[in-house]
Formats: sequence, structure tokens, C-alpha cells
Amino acid sequence: MGAIETYVDEKCEAFLEELFELLRIPSVSADPDRAGDIGAAGQWVSDKLAAIGMKSEVVVTKGHPIVYGESPKVEGAPTVLVYGHYDVQPVDPLELWISPPFEPEIREGRIFARGATDDKGQMLTHVFSAQAWLQSEGRLPVNLKYLIEGEEEVGSAALSDFVAENTEKLACDCIVVSDSAQFGPGQPAITYGLRGIACYEIVVQGPNRDLHSGSFGGSITNPAVALSRILNGLVGEGGQVQVPGFYDDVVPLTELERRQMAELPFDEKQYFRQAGVSDSWGEAGYTALERRWARPTFDINGLTSGYQGTGAKTIIPGRASAKISFRLVPNQSPETIDKAFRDLVEKLAMPGVKVEVRGMHGAPGLLVPLDSPYVVAASKALEHAFGKAPVMTREGGSIPVVATLHRQLKADALLLGWGQDDDNAHSPNERFLVEDFYRGIRASARLWEEIARI
Ligand code: BES
Ligand code: ZN
Repeated sequence: MGAIETYVDEKCEAFLEELFELLRIPSVSADPDRAGDIGAAGQWVSDKLAAIGMKSEVVVTKGHPIVYGESPKVEGAPTVLVYGHYDVQPVDPLELWISPPFEPEIREGRIFARGATDDKGQMLTHVFSAQAWLQSEGRLPVNLKYLIEGEEEVGSAALSDFVAENTEKLACDCIVVSDSAQFGPGQPAITYGLRGIACYEIVVQGPNRDLHSGSFGGSITNPAVALSRILNGLVGEGGQVQVPGFYDDVVPLTELERRQMAELPFDEKQYFRQAGVSDSWGEAGYTALERRWARPTFDINGLTSGYQGTGAKTIIPGRASAKISFRLVPNQSPETIDKAFRDLVEKLAMPGVKVEVRGMHGAPGLLVPLDSPYVVAASKALEHAFGKAPVMTREGGSIPVVATLHRQLKADALLLGWGQDDDNAHSPNERFLVEDFYRGIRASARLWEEIARI
């Protein structure tokens, strides 16, 4: 390992410069105007894999391209599938960024750019670690397959199909994903649970144009009021989702998990302070960690209706819409809640408006068994790179395709987050600690060796 670590130390600056190149490409998957940039980012990743000696291809799909790469074959060695994504979230509100989102810069030891932590910076650690092995040892101790997609932030539709159609090609012994967070700065974590998700848009159509609220108010249904009623009816006072049967399949937290979560050095006050809120809120009977990691939720992600300009404008808006999402936990499935959700919305709809529920995307959650030899290998690699043994955590976010990969390839996933909770993923001023980037590369390089030893 000595030569590899020296190589990583020597190449620190070069790795950072290459990450900056990828960060400069505005690969926002949700924005159709950015399709060219999505293509450029996929090509960049594929070229990079090829440049370090991998077989690599860009697979055209009906959505955004998928990059697939393979390292030179090592007979008899285990095969690891690295999954990551090169697409990023939209940047708005742009005015809150201190430096432009696609002009990466370092301030106070952090790389600021959209995609720095989610997921370009984290994903590339597994590419640079392979480069370090190949350049300094001339070989890798494992077979690596790379599956890097451009649609994670919009639900991974094309990738789910690709995985189902290519199970032989993707066959592996374990899956490695770095698209989450450490437990805290310098405290590494192995994440054994992810939440699933179900996203919808609810559109309420009222009059065929905005109307004078004096002439019409009180005599017809206001779509914004109708939408508010629906949204209010979806969630109870204490945060309980009101969709019938919603909790039926929820795997409850075990006593052991609750104890382990309670023992984690989690500073609730600091967590809420960094989010800029004064207090916690959520389902009664659960701690903040339990709520965000292991309980399902309902959220409004966007709400649009009526006059948004300065001053007052007395209208009944013609239309109102909301983007909403449910975070799901094992064993809930987006398909199972779909009908009950649509029925409830219909029941809550006021007369005189047309209510449409548009399904967007969904994915189930995931729980990874902790007794696998790959978890032991990962623990050793993390302890080596961070100087501290990892803690076992779950995450509240979703990485839609991981459950599909786990099921289709019958392989366990190692979720090794190099980021921090306050990296501002999806927010303005997204950032990634330079130190976390390097620790990620070192941990990844060690991981290949630990997996080869199993
Ligand atoms: N990197 C996140 C997943 C994540 C978030 C892991 C928080 C751990 C903690 C990922 O890129 C993401 O944001 N996923 C989306 C998926 C959705 C759009 C289908 C998410 O969770 O909202
Ligand atoms: Zn991500």
C-alpha cells in the first residue's frame, strides 16, 4: 500500500484539478436545456475511465446516458460494482450562492460548487483510487465495474431498465456507493439503511383564467384553497401520514437499533442550529435520528398558485399545484401506497375543480445486512483512512437504484459516505471538504485491498 499512498499524496493537486473540470460542467438532469451538458459530463467520466486503462462506454438511453466501465480482468479476484452519478440538482435560488455554482473554488478548506459532494466529488474518489493502484502497482487487486448515471436526481428511470436488461454484465460480489455522509467530520460511517421515495405533482384546475375575487369570490371554488385542503388532509397534527394503510408494511425499529442510535454522539441542538431552525418537530415517540432515518414522511417540495409579485392582487387563481414526496422506509413500496394515495386525494377534493395527480418517480428503501464480510472489509478500510472505526448509521435520503441493484444482482451494497450533513447538498453553496475528498480516495484505495483479502 505504501506506493499507492505516496501516489495519492503526490497527485492531490491533480485530482482536485480534474474534479474541478467535471464540476464546471452544469449537468443539471432536471433541466431539458442542459441535455448537452449532461452528455458532456457523461463523456468526461467515460474518457477519464478510459484514460486510466478501463474499458469504457457511454450507453445511450431514452433518458440521460449511462457510463459503464470495467477494469482490466484479474482472474480469481472478487468483482466490485461502483455506482455513482454525474448529474446534479438545479442551482436555484442562484442569488444565494456566494460564488457561481459551476465555477468551483476553495474557501476555508472546502470545495464550493454544485455537485461537489453530491455526487461528483464522492464518485470520483473511486476512480482516482483505481488510478492510484494502476499507476503505482500496475494492477488492481479486484475487478472493478463502474456504473455512473446521469439521472439519479430525477429518479433513475433509464438505469432501472438498464440494470434489469444487463444483470450478467453487471454481475458482482458487492456494490460500493459513496453518495451520502459521514456521521460527523472525521467520524466515518457505514450506512446500512436508505429511505425510499414516491414523488407526485398535484394539479388543481379551477376557472379557465384568474378571476376578480370580488366578482367571483364565495361563489366558486378557489383552487388554491382546494389544494390546501388536500395537502392538509394528507398529514396529521403530529406528522402522521393519513393515507390508509400507509404504515402497514413499515419495518419497525428494533430495540437494538434504537439503543445504538441513542448511543451515537449526535448533537441535536447543533443539528437544528446548522439548519437555522429553533426546534425539532415530527412524529411523536421518536427521536430526531429515528425520524429522519427510519420513519416515513410526507413533504411538500414546491407550491405554486396565484399572484407572487409585490403588493396585493385580488384574484381567484385559475390553478394551483404542489410537488410533493413521501419518504418511504423498508418494506413500504411506492406501488402499494399509490392507489390509496390517489383515492384519498380524490376524497379530499372540493367540488367545482378538476384535480389531477401526476406520478413522477418512486423507489423502495433499503436495509443492508451488517454481518457481511464486505462490511468487515469496509470497516477496516475506513479505520485505516480516517484513523477511527466507523459507526453504523442509516440515512434519510434516497438513492433510487440501489435497491434495484441489490435485488437484481443479489449483491449487498456498501454505502460509504464521504460527505457531511452540512455540505449543503441540494442547497445553495454546496461544498465538500478537501480533506474528505482525500480521505475518500485513501479509504477507497484501501477498500480494494481489504475486499481482495476476504
Ligand atoms: N446523495 C443523495 C442521497 C442522500 C441524501 C443520501 C441524503 C444520504 C443523505 C442523492 O443524490 C439524492 O439526493 N437523491 C434524491 C433521490 C430522489 C430525487 C429520487 C433524494 O434523496 O432526494
Ligand atoms: Zn447524490
